[in-house]
Amino acid sequence: MVINSAAIRWHGDFLELLDQRALPAETLWLPVRNSQEAAQAIRDMVVRGAPAIGITAAYGLALEAALQESNASLDNLADAIATLAASRPTAVNLFWALERLQTTGQSLQGAELADTLLRDAEAIHREDIAANHALGEFGAALLPDSATVYTHCNTGALATGGHGTALGIIRTAWQQKRLQGVYAGETRPWLQGSRLTSWELSNDGIPVTLVADSTAGQLMAQGKIQAVIVGADRITANGDTANKIGTYNLAVLARHHGIPFIVAAPVSTLDPALPDGSHIVIEERDGNEVRQIQGKTVAPSDVPVYNPAFDVTPGELITAIVTERGVIQAPNTDKVLAHLRGQ
Ligand code: MRU
Repeated sequence: MVINSAAIRWHGDFLELLDQRALPAETLWLPVRNSQEAAQAIRDMVVRGAPAIGITAAYGLALEAALQESNASLDNLADAIATLAASRPTAVNLFWALERLQTTGQSLQGAELADTLLRDAEAIHREDIAANHALGEFGAALLPDSATVYTHCNTGALATGGHGTALGIIRTAWQQKRLQGVYAGETRPWLQGSRLTSWELSNDGIPVTLVADSTAGQLMAQGKIQAVIVGADRITANGDTANKIGTYNLAVLARHHGIPFIVAAPVSTLDPALPDGSHIVIEERDGNEVRQIQGKTVAPSDVPVYNPAFDVTPGELITAIVTERGVIQAPNTDKVLAHLRGQ
């Protein structure tokens, strides 16, 4: 089966990824034919965003099983699983996808294992698109009419199977004519907001204004924002949420100004195994991402840098978590676990 989405094209026997390092200047598609190439694409941020990373890892493992032909077994895939799992630490969707495929493939071997893993990777891809449309409806219903919202990082079609999580809510609200416009924070250091979100929203004709991250407080003080909507890389049992660095700042600002702070994510981003956010491994990235902007040095070349890719927003600062199953208002451990049980 062929599945085409904004950043991930599955051709049935190989994968193509839109190189998000080159956007918006260039549209380059990179082929991925095995687990090593999938892991490298995740590590190098060719593909990024928690759900898109999970989908890519699933295809990478399935491709590896296909290459092993009659020798394919979960034992023989152990190295591929370890390589994919080591590509980026924070987004739980990566580990969720690898575990799901191992469960699906249990006790299978050879061509039957490879075929089953490929079908499951396709299912993960399709299910993520459906989840985003469903959570988009739930989230849009939370917004006041004619809302102007603030978003951070990129949570759109580029970061997911399609439609997006926080951007999925924004897209759905726009289609329902309930949205006035969007402020997108540029999201230093990697500039997901300026390079990806403002590009995606402009392409869709959704009014977007790009701001430096440090502008958020001023916008809220001026009463220009009715909700902050962000995505998530991992949500622990008590609702603590790891997301792109700078998300925590926005949650504190939103609380101070009495503005709803909404987290949007598929259920695959919930990690009930971790009781709270102190257990989340936060990826630290190369200091040159901060010393430089798009390859141009903007700081002393040897200045020490601290560059965590994510921060953790305490669940108590979150107004609502929105998934494809519905809305968790004022999240806590009881509510998150009940949501996962389908209650
Ligand atoms: O480092 P990135 O670009 O992978 O970080 C992405 C984010 O933090 C997103 O907000 C999150 O993964 C949700 S994407 C739907």
